[in-house]
Amino acid sequence: MHSVREVNNEIVWVGCNDRRLARFENLFPIPRGVSYNSYLIKDEKVTLMDTVDAGASFQFLTNIDWTLSQWGRGLDYLIVQHMEPDHGANIEVLLKKFPEMKIVASAKAIAMMGQFFESDFSGRTIEVKEGDTLNIGKRTLQFITAPMVHWPEVIVTYDSYEKILFSADAFGVFGALNGHIFDDEIAFEKEWLNDARRYYANIVGKFGNNVQALLKKLTPLDIAVICPLHGPIWRTDLSLFLDKYQKWSTYEPEENAVVIIYGSIYGNTEQTANALAFRLADAGVKKIAVHDVSSTHVSELIGEIFRCSHLVIACSTYNGGVYPPMDNLLEDMKNLKVQNRTVAIIENGTWAPNSGKLIINKLLEMKDMEIIEPVLTIKSTLKMARHDELCSLAAKIADTVKQG
Ligand code: FEO
Repeated sequence: MHSVREVNNEIVWVGCNDRRLARFENLFPIPRGVSYNSYLIKDEKVTLMDTVDAGASFQFLTNIDWTLSQWGRGLDYLIVQHMEPDHGANIEVLLKKFPEMKIVASAKAIAMMGQFFESDFSGRTIEVKEGDTLNIGKRTLQFITAPMVHWPEVIVTYDSYEKILFSADAFGVFGALNGHIFDDEIAFEKEWLNDARRYYANIVGKFGNNVQALLKKLTPLDIAVICPLHGPIWRTDLSLFLDKYQKWSTYEPEENAVVIIYGSIYGNTEQTANALAFRLADAGVKKIAVHDVSSTHVSELIGEIFRCSHLVIACSTYNGGVYPPMDNLLEDMKNLKVQNRTVAIIENGTWAPNSGKLIINKLLEMKDMEIIEPVLTIKSTLKMARHDELCSLAAKIADTVKQG
C-alpha cells in the first residue's frame, strides 16, 4: 500500500519512514525514527528528487509505482543531490527499472556512483555544476553546490516556478513523519526542535562555514517552500528554522542557559554537580539542565552544548586522566568544532585530582572558549566547610549568564 502525500498538485512526497533503525549512521539513537524524503515532480519530464535508504526500498518503490501509475507516466530524470546511502541506495535499482531515465548529479556524485555500485553508468548521467539549469517543462531547475552540507558532492535545487528549494540534508531533522509532513501540521518547537538541533549539531555541526556559504547563496532566492531529505517540509514558518540555522552555523548559543554535565564514578561528583545546579537556581539562573555523561548519549550532549551559552563540566579523575565518557565528549566537541562557550570546571580525585587541567587543555584546543577560574577541586567529596567555594562558583557563573 502506498503512503504518499501531495506537496502540491504536481509534486508528491514519495519518501519513507524508518522506525526499525536503532541508530542513524549506526551511531546516533533515533527512538522517534527517521524519514527519508523523496519527491516526484510531474512536468513534461517526470523528475524524482533523490532516493531512500536500502532499508526502506519496498515502501519507496511502492510509492513511486503507485504515483507514476496514477499519472500514466514513466520516470525521465533522477536528480541525485546527495550520495550518502540513506538517500542514494536505490539509484541502481531505478537505473535498471527505468532504462530511459537519466541521472542528474555533480561530477563528484557521479564518481561516487562508480564506487558504490557495479553498474555501468556511462551514457546515463548528466553532470551539473554551480548555476547549471535543467528544463523539465514548466519548471527550470537551478543547481547550487553545497559542499560539505554534508558531503563534498552535494547540490541543492531551486525550482523558481513554485519557489521551492530542495535542500538535501540541510534543514533535515531526526524523527519519522507520522502522516503530517508539513511544518504547520506539527508542534515543531515542542516536539521536534531538540531532534532538529541534535541532527544539525552531530551531522553538519563541524561544517558551520560551509552551511554559512550555502545560506549566503540562498539569500537572493525567493523561497516559499523548503523540501529537505529528512523531516518536515517547511511552507509556513521558514524564518523559524532559518534563524536556528543562522545561530547554529555561526556557533552562537541558542539560549542563555547552563548545561551541567558530570562524569561520576560513585556519585560524589554527581552530588557536587547537583548542589551547583541548586545554587545556580538560588542565584537566579532560569535555564539549567543537568546530564550524566555516562547515561545521556553523546549526541544529546552535543545538542545541549549547541543550545546553551554556558557549560559546567564536573568530572572524576580516572587512571590519572579524564573519566573516559567525558574524554569522549570532549573529543567529539573538538571534532564538531564547538566554540564560543563559557565553561566552568569541577574536578574530583581521591589522591591525585588531575582531570581539571586536562579538560582545560582540551578546551583550549577549541576556539573562543572562556574558562571561569578557578577550577573547583574536590578530593572524594565536597565538604560543608567548602560550601562558600561552591556558592562563589555559582555566583560567577550566574553573573556571566546575566551579562549574556
Ligand atoms: Fe541524510 Fe548526509 O545523509
